[in-house]
Amino acid sequence: MSRLVVVANRVPLGDGSRSPPGGLAVALQETLAAEGGLWFGWSGRVVAGPAGELQQRKAGAITFATLDLSRIDHGEYYTGFANRCLWPAFHYRVDLATDCGRNFDGYIRVNRLFARKLLPLLDRDDDIWVHDYHLIPMGEILREAGAHHRIGFFLHTPLPAAEILVTIPAHERLMRALCAYDLVGFQTAGDLRAFHDYVRYEAGGEVLADGTVRAYGRICRADVFPIGLDVDNIVAAGEAAMDSPSLRRLRDSLQGREMIIGVDRLDYSKGLIERFRAIETFLEIYAASRNRVAFLQIAPPSRAEVPEYREIRRQLEGEAGRINGQFGEPDRVPLHYLNRSFRRTTLAGYFRLSRAALVTPLRDGMNLVAKEFVAAQDAEDPGVLILSRFAGAARQLSAAVIVNPYDTRAVADAIHRAIAMSGGERKERWGDMMKAVRGYDIARWRNDFLAGLRGPAGAGAAAT
Ligand code: G6P
Repeated sequence: MSRLVVVANRVPLGDGSRSPPGGLAVALQETLAAEGGLWFGWSGRVVAGPAGELQQRKAGAITFATLDLSRIDHGEYYTGFANRCLWPAFHYRVDLATDCGRNFDGYIRVNRLFARKLLPLLDRDDDIWVHDYHLIPMGEILREAGAHHRIGFFLHTPLPAAEILVTIPAHERLMRALCAYDLVGFQTAGDLRAFHDYVRYEAGGEVLADGTVRAYGRICRADVFPIGLDVDNIVAAGEAAMDSPSLRRLRDSLQGREMIIGVDRLDYSKGLIERFRAIETFLEIYAASRNRVAFLQIAPPSRAEVPEYREIRRQLEGEAGRINGQFGEPDRVPLHYLNRSFRRTTLAGYFRLSRAALVTPLRDGMNLVAKEFVAAQDAEDPGVLILSRFAGAARQLSAAVIVNPYDTRAVADAIHRAIAMSGGERKERWGDMMKAVRGYDIARWRNDFLAGLRGPAGAGAAAT
């Protein structure tokens, strides 16, 4: 079988260094450990002066090859175009997409740098799988440099509707680059539809009956691959964590109250301000239930170099302080708000202890926390998932309590419903959700994508 080369901005070095809080790293590490191969990307380090040399390290079946970035490259590519243009625009926050014009050249320059360093590491028969919005142009650049490999791309974020996409000045360059891949994978049917709409109505291309796309003189395939979990790992972690001292301490601190948990990277797309307002509304309206619940919001800081992330952090601190100031008692506060990360295994225990989870992003490609919460539950006494209709996961987890995160009152009502829900209803909903989580797990995601990539079709074929 051909070797798999994964190209992603983040490379989890597995040496105890900072590991990214997003679901991407978790998913890919599991994938590569199973397949063996090369993982290529940014080292996570920013250095003074020009970008450093390529560093390579082997760990088990995986070779990690990483590059440092210069301050200018990091500023223009990562902080600038990726996270102040593509990330907000792809999450429908056009108002926050302030760096779309000036940093596009830096974005292309770093994609070229990555491609230049990757090319000599490639074997003839490698299959290349590029990940996420940081690296959309990578496949096209590799092709221009003569790479004849099969190259696939998976977008972990949403792809917004064409009306939003066209607000990005370089939209055509980006979409043309997507069409240079053999296979483009999206999280949901909505993302795929947005791609098809763009191809038809903006690019003047066509979508054939078998899903093949022809545009810009190129042919590619595009399909839906909803990312999943290594389910057994989370199930086992949830069970094992129940006896840990930290979980016992947390259980004791609840003083008989039910815990409602949220775990999110500190990001404006996660709807945390709206969630805190819904908690406040719940505490106001359902005063009789006030002493029955404790909210735990875990929000590890993220992308602190981007001003919008510092601002959302400041706002959330204010909101949490206000809520606790208003509804706290001398011996207890309703909302525990923590800006640090926890191991996945610890979180699995917290999920299992919780009566409900609030997963209420304003937009999210998939949201693996929703699936992890489900997988970590006790089948005999499962908790309730309150899930935003705008998370990709809502397509598969329709048995969750689905909410509109902008509707503060509806989310407050959903919290009330969750704590009042009968064991029978909880089990029924959980059973349906667990079936979906098991039915499309991380192995299925990997296998389906790679089968699609390795299936019959021309590598970057030019349309005739
Ligand atoms: C999301 C993105 C990933 C990213 C992760 C963490 O899940 O889809 O590509 O790695 O967030 O963000 P960061 O900027 O720290 O890599």
